[in-house]
Amino acid sequence: LSSTEVDLTPIAEGQGITVMWRGKPVFIRHRTAKEIEEAEAVPLSELRDPQADAQRVKDGKKQWLVMVGICTHLGCVPLGQQGEYDGWFCPCHGSHYDSSGRIRKGPAPLNLAIPEYQFLSDTKIKIG
Ligand code: FES
Repeated sequence: LSSTEVDLTPIAEGQGITVMWRGKPVFIRHRTAKEIEEAEAVPLSELRDPQADAQRVKDGKKQWLVMVGICTHLGCVPLGQQGEYDGWFCPCHGSHYDSSGRIRKGPAPLNLAIPEYQFLSDTKIKIG
Protein backbone atom coordinates (compact mmCIF):
# COMPACT_ATOMS: atom_id res chain seq x y z
CA LEU A 1 0.00 0.00 0.00
CA SER A 2 1.34 3.45 -0.81
CA SER A 3 -0.74 5.21 1.83
CA THR A 4 -1.74 4.35 5.37
CA GLU A 5 -4.67 5.65 7.39
CA VAL A 6 -4.20 6.04 11.12
CA ASP A 7 -6.87 6.60 13.78
CA LEU A 8 -5.48 9.08 16.32
CA THR A 9 -8.20 8.54 18.93
CA PRO A 10 -6.24 6.06 21.10
CA ILE A 11 -3.14 8.26 21.35
CA ALA A 12 -3.42 10.24 24.58
CA GLU A 13 -1.63 13.53 25.07
CA GLY A 14 1.97 12.81 25.96
CA GLN A 15 1.97 9.50 24.11
CA GLY A 16 3.09 8.37 20.72
CA ILE A 17 2.88 5.38 18.43
CA THR A 18 4.96 4.03 15.58
CA VAL A 19 3.29 2.83 12.40
CA MET A 20 4.89 1.36 9.32
CA TRP A 21 4.57 3.21 6.03
CA ARG A 22 6.32 2.07 2.85
CA GLY A 23 8.55 -0.13 4.99
CA LYS A 24 9.62 2.72 7.24
CA PRO A 25 8.68 3.52 10.82
CA VAL A 26 6.63 6.67 11.19
CA PHE A 27 6.37 8.28 14.62
CA ILE A 28 3.05 9.89 15.52
CA ARG A 29 3.24 11.87 18.72
CA HIS A 30 0.48 13.68 20.57
CA ARG A 31 2.54 16.51 22.01
CA THR A 32 1.96 18.16 25.33
CA ALA A 33 1.56 21.92 25.63
CA LYS A 34 5.03 22.03 27.20
CA GLU A 35 6.61 20.20 24.27
CA ILE A 36 4.94 22.57 21.82
CA GLU A 37 6.03 25.64 23.79
CA GLU A 38 9.60 24.39 23.95
CA ALA A 39 9.67 23.72 20.22
CA GLU A 40 8.23 27.13 19.38
CA ALA A 41 10.62 28.97 21.69
CA VAL A 42 13.83 27.84 19.95
CA PRO A 43 15.44 30.57 17.83
CA LEU A 44 16.06 29.38 14.28
CA SER A 45 19.65 30.58 14.64
CA GLU A 46 20.28 27.75 17.11
CA LEU A 47 19.23 25.08 14.66
CA ARG A 48 21.53 23.09 12.40
CA ASP A 49 18.68 22.46 9.97
CA PRO A 50 16.62 25.62 10.52
CA GLN A 51 12.92 24.95 10.41
CA ALA A 52 10.23 26.60 12.53
CA ASP A 53 8.03 24.24 14.48
CA ALA A 54 5.05 25.58 12.51
CA GLN A 55 6.63 24.29 9.29
CA ARG A 56 6.67 20.76 10.71
CA VAL A 57 3.04 20.44 11.74
CA LYS A 58 -0.33 21.17 10.15
CA ASP A 59 -2.18 24.43 10.79
CA GLY A 60 -4.43 24.12 13.82
CA LYS A 61 -3.07 20.66 14.62
CA LYS A 62 0.22 21.46 16.21
CA GLN A 63 -0.27 18.89 18.95
CA TRP A 64 0.32 16.20 16.31
CA LEU A 65 3.86 15.55 15.14
CA VAL A 66 4.21 13.01 12.33
CA MET A 67 7.75 12.08 11.27
CA VAL A 68 9.72 9.36 9.55
CA GLY A 69 11.44 7.58 12.44
CA ILE A 70 14.83 7.17 10.81
CA CYS A 71 17.89 8.99 12.07
CA THR A 72 19.29 11.24 9.36
CA HIS A 73 22.84 10.19 10.25
CA LEU A 74 23.04 6.51 9.29
CA GLY A 75 19.50 5.30 9.56
CA CYS A 76 18.96 3.89 13.05
CA VAL A 77 15.57 4.29 14.70
CA PRO A 78 15.73 6.94 17.44
CA LEU A 79 14.14 6.35 20.84
CA GLY A 80 11.27 8.57 21.95
CA GLN A 81 11.14 10.78 25.02
CA GLN A 82 14.86 10.57 25.52
CA GLY A 83 17.83 12.80 25.00
CA GLU A 84 18.53 16.30 26.17
CA TYR A 85 15.79 18.14 24.27
CA ASP A 86 12.57 16.45 25.36
CA GLY A 87 12.37 14.62 22.06
CA TRP A 88 14.20 11.68 20.54
CA PHE A 89 17.65 10.20 20.99
CA CYS A 90 19.50 7.98 18.56
CA PRO A 91 21.63 5.53 20.52
CA CYS A 92 23.75 4.52 17.54
CA HIS A 93 26.02 7.57 17.63
CA GLY A 94 24.28 9.95 19.98
CA SER A 95 22.08 12.32 18.00
CA HIS A 96 19.57 14.34 20.02
CA TYR A 97 16.35 15.58 18.41
CA ASP A 98 14.00 18.07 20.07
CA SER A 99 10.23 17.99 20.64
CA SER A 100 9.77 19.04 17.02
CA GLY A 101 12.10 16.27 15.78
CA ARG A 102 14.81 18.76 14.83
CA ILE A 103 18.45 17.81 15.16
CA ARG A 104 20.06 19.60 18.10
CA LYS A 105 23.21 17.68 18.99
CA GLY A 106 25.26 14.80 17.66
CA PRO A 107 26.30 13.77 14.15
CA ALA A 108 22.98 13.74 12.29
CA PRO A 109 22.86 16.51 9.64
CA LEU A 110 19.11 16.98 9.25
CA ASN A 111 15.84 17.03 11.14
CA LEU A 112 13.72 13.91 11.17
CA ALA A 113 11.79 13.98 7.89
CA ILE A 114 8.11 14.86 7.71
CA PRO A 115 6.27 12.52 5.38
CA GLU A 116 3.49 13.63 3.09
CA TYR A 117 0.25 13.32 5.10
CA GLN A 118 -3.13 14.93 5.57
CA PHE A 119 -5.93 15.04 8.10
CA LEU A 120 -9.03 13.22 6.86
CA SER A 121 -10.88 14.34 10.01
CA ASP A 122 -9.91 15.65 13.44
CA THR A 123 -9.00 12.14 14.49
CA LYS A 124 -7.72 10.47 11.36
CA ILE A 125 -4.72 11.03 9.13
CA LYS A 126 -3.64 9.53 5.85
CA ILE A 127 0.11 9.16 5.39
CA GLY A 128 1.29 9.11 1.78
FE1 FES B 1 21.66 7.98 14.52
FE2 FES B 1 24.22 7.69 13.80
S1 FES B 1 22.49 6.65 13.02
S2 FES B 1 23.38 8.98 15.33
